[in-house]
Amino acid sequence: MSDLSSIQPVVQAKGLIKTFGRVVGLNSANLELYPGEVLAVIGDNGAGKSTLIKCISGAETPDSGQILIDNEEVSFKSSLDARAYGIETVYQTLAVAPALDIASNLYLGREKRKSGILGSVFRKLDHSGMRNTAKEQMTKLGIGTLQDMSQAVETLSGGQRQAVSVARAEAFGSKVVILDEPTAALGVRESNQVLKMIELMRDRGLPIILISHNMPQVFEVADRIHVQRLGSRAAVVTPKTHTMNDAVAIMTGALKVDEKDQALGPVRVPATA
Ligand SMILES: Nc1ncnc2c1ncn2[C@@H]1O[C@H](COP(=O)(O)OP(=O)(O)O)[C@@H](O)[C@H]1O
Ligand SMILES: [Mg+2]
Repeated sequence: MSDLSSIQPVVQAKGLIKTFGRVVGLNSANLELYPGEVLAVIGDNGAGKSTLIKCISGAETPDSGQILIDNEEVSFKSSLDARAYGIETVYQTLAVAPALDIASNLYLGREKRKSGILGSVFRKLDHSGMRNTAKEQMTKLGIGTLQDMSQAVETLSGGQRQAVSVARAEAFGSKVVILDEPTAALGVRESNQVLKMIELMRDRGLPIILISHNMPQVFEVADRIHVQRLGSRAAVVTPKTHTMNDAVAIMTGALKVDEKDQALGPVRVPATA
């Protein structure tokens, strides 16, 4: 698969329209996510970034337009529908249950039952199984500092909590992981850890949509940068072809980019992990 032109999008949004009363959230928005890439989505407040990814993750239903997963049209009624397709989302608010431990947070809503009659009839949870897998999962993502999977999440730092939600997404997002401002509430060191996790996931072949305001982070980690403006896509550029100043100028409408100068197709050969 070294020929980029043969690579098909994993996720495709075509002409999505979403209004909230008189407010236009999405005005014919398009998006493509290719295998094994990090696609950053940037744009001013209110540009429709969250609404766009909520449509893809099933949290919102577009008024019209199409969403295709592996070239098959889907119609998600809820985020559970999107999850069934292997699409996992981490929202900007640290989406964890503070009083529960790490392993329970990882499996929230998808608890493992004990095998046999204990699980099927008595609904007994497989705590040790969940803790072991949780530990493996956290180690795989390079978060070796978390020792005790039975530690309550409320005792963790913001970065460690976010690490738990990213690990959760990675554990279940078999196809796509979407991160909406995952580092917004974090310090520098913790943000770097989340970035490292993003690179690890990408290196294992998982495509990622990263919504972020943080230009240096976006330029460090993204393969392509989708610039959202006034409810639709203004351009797709790359850190190799455009500068941060260019990206900001596209966001504000000061710079228009010719289609032939955009990165509308894939730029990365996906890792085969
Ligand atoms: N649930 C909602 N109800 C009303 N308006 C909304 C809702 N969600 C988003 N909007 C509006 O849609 C537009 C796009 O919002 P959003 O997708 O959150 O932008 P972004 O994430 O880029 O800041 C904004 O004008 C916002 O106020
Ligand atoms: Mg938003």
